[in-house]
Amino acid sequence: MPYSDLREFIDRLEANGQLHRVTKQVDWNLELAHVAKVNEQRGGPALLFESIKDYPGQSVLTSAFTSKERVALGLEMPPETRFLEIARSWVGRIADKRIEPVEVATGPCKDHVVTGEDVDLFSLPAPWFYPNDGGRYVGTACFLISRSPDNGRMNLGTYRVMIIDEHRAGIQLIKGKDSEIDLRGYAERGEAMPVALVIGGDPVLFLCSSTMFPLTESEYEVAGALRGKPVDVVRAETSDLLVPASAEIVIEGFIKPGETLPEGPFGEYTGYYSGVGTDPRDFITVTAITHREHPILWSTTVGKPVTDTHMIMGINRTASLWNDLQNMKIPGVMGVYGPPAAAGRMLAIIQVKQMYHGHSTQVGLAAFASVTGNYGLKTVILVDEDIDPENMDAVMYALAFRYQPDRGTQILERGRSTPLDPSLPITDRYMTSRVLIDTCIPYEWEHKPIPIALDDALEQRIIDDWDSYLGAGAAAREDALARSRS
Ligand SMILES: Cc1cc2nc3c(=O)[nH]c(=O)nc-3n(C[C@H](O)[C@H](O)[C@H](O)COP(=O)(O)O)c2cc1C
Repeated sequence: MPYSDLREFIDRLEANGQLHRVTKQVDWNLELAHVAKVNEQRGGPALLFESIKDYPGQSVLTSAFTSKERVALGLEMPPETRFLEIARSWVGRIADKRIEPVEVATGPCKDHVVTGEDVDLFSLPAPWFYPNDGGRYVGTACFLISRSPDNGRMNLGTYRVMIIDEHRAGIQLIKGKDSEIDLRGYAERGEAMPVALVIGGDPVLFLCSSTMFPLTESEYEVAGALRGKPVDVVRAETSDLLVPASAEIVIEGFIKPGETLPEGPFGEYTGYYSGVGTDPRDFITVTAITHREHPILWSTTVGKPVTDTHMIMGINRTASLWNDLQNMKIPGVMGVYGPPAAAGRMLAIIQVKQMYHGHSTQVGLAAFASVTGNYGLKTVILVDEDIDPENMDAVMYALAFRYQPDRGTQILERGRSTPLDPSLPITDRYMTSRVLIDTCIPYEWEHKPIPIALDDALEQRIIDDWDSYLGAGAAAREDALARSRS
């Protein structure tokens, strides 16, 4: 059964030993984020902070997706599922399928409704993450809902949000993101864009909101397909937007095109601050805050890999790049892997079963041209069908023994970059170069290297009679050895 809200996901994490409740009081000012980071560096569980200084009755959730196991649980799969299998299931679940949200009369997100002058963003326990951040970030594990002024499509996009004062919050809508394009449409009409910022809901909605889907698609419908059930939505208090009925917190408001306020810097997932200082950014003027009884503010951890953000983008970029390639109907794409350490987006490893001349090059170029890969993907490593793209030893083997630099390298120029990429000059980050590294054995080679393999029959006989070679207890010893390595 799909999760109906964040609380069911929290229960599932806890039942699987993947969540710890922190009952000791923590300060929202740095301490909370620092506990979350130290826990994360130790490979710890998700944390539910139940006692936050100045905020009785409210909690903060962090590190919900910091591990592959928790990503699997978020997508209702067994925790031990391989990363590639999680992505394969995602691709299968949404292929040619969309499920529209269903409007219901009301929901728990309306337990408390605050509007107009009574609105106060500081009433929420937004953490201050890193010492040089520009302020408290209420929006990390969040998504903004906006509507296209042209066709009414509702977009869900994860964009960071910093509190400026009681009624206003700065938002980083990077150029070309769907809500930023919606905002341009409102600018042409001379209107403000109604928005709703959602914090805490069904984990699938959050995973979808940070995925690159085509501009024309509503993440509500993709999330419906991924969950196998429509998302229940209710009407916002101060606009015609539809928000998830079971959301923990909904911040309603509007963005006026062309008006900006200083936002940032923020310690980003690249391991660096986002800019040289504050930047002028769009901001939300808040018209209402609605929330559940004892709301849970969901936050992600940021900083150097692997944090929540890396793991989230690792899975959703892997799945959406794979989905894009599938939609392009290019044959022979056996596996796609966007490693979480590369935030799933800077680098992709693609496994190809070559079927014709130039096939692997076609796959690599298609990856760069896809909706997902066009944005920020810098390196594509192509591997043959016998190389598991999720296995770094296998990929290193291919790079060492199959890759030939002059034949296998193609550099491309003028690709779309994320302005957060620290490998580019800090003031000029919208364009990037790209490299395609093809480790595949050339399809056209008549004489390919001859692989060695054990004699099958002899190998099987040895396996069947294993104890006689290494003595009784060999299996137990091997298990212990494997455990000590992991
Ligand atoms: C935790 C997290 C924070 C993010 N913050 C931002 C952000 O501040 N600005 C931005 O443009 N994209 C951000 N992204 C990436 C976007 O969510 C992603 O590009 C998504 O596709 C945007 O939605 P859209 O395709 O509907 O525009 C973030 C992703 C994650 C996982």
